[in-house]
Amino acid sequence: MTVDTACTEDTAHTETHVAKVTELLLLKEEVARGPSAEAQHARGKLTVRERLELLFDRGTFREIEGLRRHRATGFGLEDRRPFTDGVVTGWGRVHGREVFAYAHDFGIFGGSLGEAHAAKIHKLMDLAESAGAPLVSLNDGAGARIQEGVTALAGYGGIFRRNVRASGVIPQISIVLGPCAGGAAYSPALTDFVFMVRGIAQMYVTGPDVVRAVTGEEITHEGLGGADVHAAVSGVATVVCDNEHECFEEVRYLLSLLPSNNRELPPGAATADPPDRRNDVLLDLVPAQPNQSYDMRAVIGEIVDDGDFFELHERWATNIICAFARLGGEVAGIIANQPASQAGVLDIHASEKAARFVQTCDAFSIPLVTLVDVPGFLPGTGQEHDGIIRHGAKLLYAYCNATVPRVQVILRKAYGGAYIVMDSRSIGCDLSFAWPTNEIAVMGAEGAANIVFRREIAAAPDPEAARAQRIKEYRQELMHPYYAAERGLVDDVIDPADTRAILIDALATLRAKHAALPSRKHGNPPA
Ligand code: HXC
Repeated sequence: MTVDTACTEDTAHTETHVAKVTELLLLKEEVARGPSAEAQHARGKLTVRERLELLFDRGTFREIEGLRRHRATGFGLEDRRPFTDGVVTGWGRVHGREVFAYAHDFGIFGGSLGEAHAAKIHKLMDLAESAGAPLVSLNDGAGARIQEGVTALAGYGGIFRRNVRASGVIPQISIVLGPCAGGAAYSPALTDFVFMVRGIAQMYVTGPDVVRAVTGEEITHEGLGGADVHAAVSGVATVVCDNEHECFEEVRYLLSLLPSNNRELPPGAATADPPDRRNDVLLDLVPAQPNQSYDMRAVIGEIVDDGDFFELHERWATNIICAFARLGGEVAGIIANQPASQAGVLDIHASEKAARFVQTCDAFSIPLVTLVDVPGFLPGTGQEHDGIIRHGAKLLYAYCNATVPRVQVILRKAYGGAYIVMDSRSIGCDLSFAWPTNEIAVMGAEGAANIVFRREIAAAPDPEAARAQRIKEYRQELMHPYYAAERGLVDDVIDPADTRAILIDALATLRAKHAALPSRKHGNPPA
């Protein structure tokens, strides 16, 4: 009898259990279904969950707080309380490594950020920082939720504070996949990398309507803050892709190059590209004449593993190249002047672009390889009045502050202040190599002769012959790598064909480098 009763109770219990689990599954299905996929597809965009599928290794995404709903009232909000509150948060794996992500759902209140929505993001950001794993945000939202007033604004404040707290601790990547206004634009700006997808992504602090009302300008969403504008004009976008599939592939590739946090080294990878592969082709790629142009991308492709590199800001400040690549399987950050664009001169944008990249590499223990072929800083009132002094100083500051392994290779021209700034020995590179074609000098021979021997040339019976003679002397005396090598300012003059082998060897030697800066709250870099 007793036994029978127990059986009956157990069966009832199991039935309740099954019913509860069924109820839960239905609820989860409802959450996962989200708002209308058709409406999102009609906008030319993928749904939140399709996006997360593309970001993460198959089936690894785990959502948290899918059941969260807002408790706001007014403006009819009490009658509209969708699950997730317009943002999906969780973690999964990318190439087998833990990554956290949050994704705005445009179908719920335009992906706008209210109190509950913000609290979910705050929690996820705190988790990512504690776990020491990268944070990826999928931005497709209309900024502060208008109906929730100041609580929405405060929600953004909490995100900004966490973005800054996690800066240099875990990699933070923002993917912009829709109209991002106000706070939705500022948070990406505080992160390490901003990806935008052409045609669907826009970023601006104030939209076209406000622009029209305040300034009278007529401008479209795309013209104001589309992907191409931020790729080529403002420099806000680090990478621009043609579609979402390509974008998530690129983000996954970038993540494979980054450490999970600032306590780890970037992940190594096996390569079939021999470390001692000769680069004979470099002699054809780089003209010996200092004023002839060539594409530095071809040089980078020749030196690095398998010709693969990940370029940042490809269309902004094109006179300098910043890229991640692997050398002998290990990740390096490459900074290179680009003679094919404005002769590779350093200007305001190039200095800003390279300074940020040097900082990013230094924060995440990525060694720096600097390829130098620079005629100097860009002269002119425009640059001076816009502050080339303080912007150029940013690059100087970033290099001087960097404690990661630093190797410089001077290919050809290295003139004046620009030579010093491009990670010269005097500002702290660990190893400096020069090709025999190199010319390190205060300035080009023509300019130097005209200044130093101006009076003598003017007084000469044949001024042109005197000028030519002085230029020749200056070249022979000063403009070759041996002058710098004699003085220890380059560590060796190398055969260009050995560049890859020497770089791989140098970086392996410096891998365990430990350099500390003096104790301080933080430096005060030029802004
Ligand atoms: C609440 C919003 C919203 C918002 C849009 N929606 N913006 N709900 N708060 N900020 C809702 C709409 O009512 C609509 O709801 C749905 O989202 C889709 O919006 P549409 O306008 O129909 O879409 P679309 O034509 O594609 O235009 C998208 C948009 C536009 C460009 C984002 O909606 C827009 O300009 N929104 C306002 C953006 C903005 O000014 N945000 C505040 C920024 S200030 P239904 O129910 O009809 O589907 C800010 C300050 C932060 O963020 C602090 C920074 C320092």
